Formats: sequence, C-alpha cells, structure tokens
Amino acid sequence: MDDIDVLVSEVGPRDGLQNTKQFMPTEFKKRWISAAAAAGVREIEVCSFVPPKLIPQMVDAAEVVAHARTIPGLNVAALAPNFKGAQRAMEAGVHKLTLTISVSKSHSLANVRMTPDEAVASAKKICDFRDSLPPERRPKIEAGLSTVFGCTIEGAVSEDEVVRLAIASAEAGCDEVGLADTTGYANPEQIRRVFRKVRAAIGGKLGGAHLHNTRGLGLANVVAALEVGVRTFDSSQGGLGGCPFAPGASGNIVTEDLVFMLEAMGLRTGIDLDRLLAIRQILAEGMPGELLYGYVPLAGVTKGFVPAARH
Ligand code: COA
Ligand code: ZN
Repeated sequence: MDDIDVLVSEVGPRDGLQNTKQFMPTEFKKRWISAAAAAGVREIEVCSFVPPKLIPQMVDAAEVVAHARTIPGLNVAALAPNFKGAQRAMEAGVHKLTLTISVSKSHSLANVRMTPDEAVASAKKICDFRDSLPPERRPKIEAGLSTVFGCTIEGAVSEDEVVRLAIASAEAGCDEVGLADTTGYANPEQIRRVFRKVRAAIGGKLGGAHLHNTRGLGLANVVAALEVGVRTFDSSQGGLGGCPFAPGASGNIVTEDLVFMLEAMGLRTGIDLDRLLAIRQILAEGMPGELLYGYVPLAGVTKGFVPAARH
C-alpha cells in the first residue's frame, strides 16, 4: 500500500448483487469487474460461494472468479458461509476469502444456520484445510464479524461479545478480523470505541470496516474509523447491497461517494473517479431499472476537484 493511503475494496458484485431481484448476466459481471480494476480498484469481492438454490445470483461464482483472476494485480476476494463454500472458493482460486461470523446469535442462525461459536469452529476447520494446501493455493482468510454494531432481530449487540469473537476468530487461524455494520446501526462514536477495543485485543489482525448506509451515517462512520487508524473500507458501486437474512438491511456505502470524499481529503485511493463513475452505465445496462444510489454521481464532482495524488 505504498502508493495508496486507503484500500477501497469493492463488494458490489457480492454484497450488492446478493440482494438485487434481477440476475445480472455473467458477461456484465465480468465487464464490471474489469472496468473497476481498470479504474484502479485493487480488491474486489467478486461473488459468494453459497447454494445457488438459496441465492441464484451466485450460480456463476466460479466463472466470475476465473475471469477476475486473469486481471493482473487484482486481489480477487469472495465470501463463503460454510466449509463447503470455502472449499469451492479455494478450488476456484480466490486470493482472499471472507468468512461471515455474526455476533448476533439470531442473525447468525438466520444467515448461516450456525451459532456464532459454531461459525468460529467452522472457521477453524476452514483455516486448517487452507493450511493443508500448497502455499501458492492458500488464500488469505478474513473473519468478517457481522452485526457488530446492532442487529435488526436482536437490537443491541454486546461489545464484549464482539471482542470475544474477534479473539476467537484470530485464534482459529484467520489472518485478519474485519468489523461489519451489516444493518446500518453504527454511529461514529460507537465506531471509534469498538474499533479501538478490538485493536486492543487483537492488534495487527484488525482488518477493515464494512459499512452500510441505511441511516445515512455511512461516510460519517468512515471518518470516525479513519480517526482510529482503519485503512481498508468495503463499499459498493451504486450503493447496492444488503443482507437478505437481516430484515430491513439496505445498501453499502457508495464507492463513488467514498472515493470522492477520500481523495478530496487528500487520501490516495489509486482510483480514477471519472472512470469509476462511468461504470454505472454497465450496472444500468446489466440490471435495467435497478435503483442506483450516490450523491456524487447525481451532483457531479466539484469544480476544480483535484485528486489526492496531485494535492
Ligand atoms: N455452496 C453450494 N452448495 C452448498 C453450500 C455451499 N456453500 N453449502 C451447502 N450446500 C448444499 C449442500 O451440499 C446440500 O446439498 P444437497 O441438498 O444437494 O445435499 C444443501 O446445500 C443443503 O446443505 P446444508 O449444509 O444443510 O445447508 P443449509 O441448507 O443448512 O444452509 C448455508 C446453510 C450456510 C449454506 C446457508 O444458510 C447459506 O448459504 N447462508 C449464507 C447466506 C448469505 O450468503 N448471506 C449473506 C452474506 S452475509
Ligand atoms: Zn454487507
């Protein structure tokens, strides 16, 4: 990350598409991923390895990974909810694998039919399996703790439980532990407090922030996370997204708005904003009528805008 200050990890093809009604044709997914990489996006969560019966959008997961792997320099990430999904992802050759471990017991059961502790045990089995592979086929594994800041089923989520599960995930063999506001419940003060607590517990294994903009606090939460040293953010083009198993959860923070804010603040993302904005055309064609969010795409970039690298 020498030439960038913040890693923007595009999760639209996974978090975004898992929640859309329409199927985005595989060719459009490939065009989206290629165009995002060409615009300077370094990491893309391109799909999840879930039963296609449950989430038909992900039926082409292996093909999408195969395409993404042909793009030089791109870190190809995918999500898996269980051992079988993780095995499929590793077979497909992902560089990074995100496992979802929900802190809320009710959400965990609804989402992956496991308690949080069973999900950690599953993560351990997955990490052990990864370690049995030849070194060049071992993906980096991230535990994505979800519903960290609140749950649409249970309400408040215990911060002690967040810390406990972060430690358990790190001990299970996960390389890093990211914190997700799956439901858009977080506020900036909470973000600062919880990220600090988790860093105090697991140090350098603390990963990035995965934020949703359900209550309009997404970018305020990014600034709060920046203040406590977080340097990786998940976001979704057009603000698509939401967990189908967390009732009322809506879209991720919008990549276009996030990149604008970071670059305007003098933080280099490596992403060309004009090229990023142009990608919305691919989304609009690939899923006609799907609502695309974002303020910068509507209002346009500010007059005289200077990207961070030229500050
Ligand atoms: N990929 C493909 N097929 C899978 C699979 C996976 N990751 N996991 C299970 N299956 C298959 C099984 O082989 C089995 O197939 P069969 O009926 O032909 O024998 C079938 O699905 C049921 O398997 P089971 O282990 O009983 O799964 P389940 O029905 O209890 O579902 C999960 C568990 C975890 C697979 C499911 O709840 C899930 O995918 N959740 C994730 C949801 C999600 O993506 N949420 C948003 C992201 S946070
Ligand atoms: Zn999400």
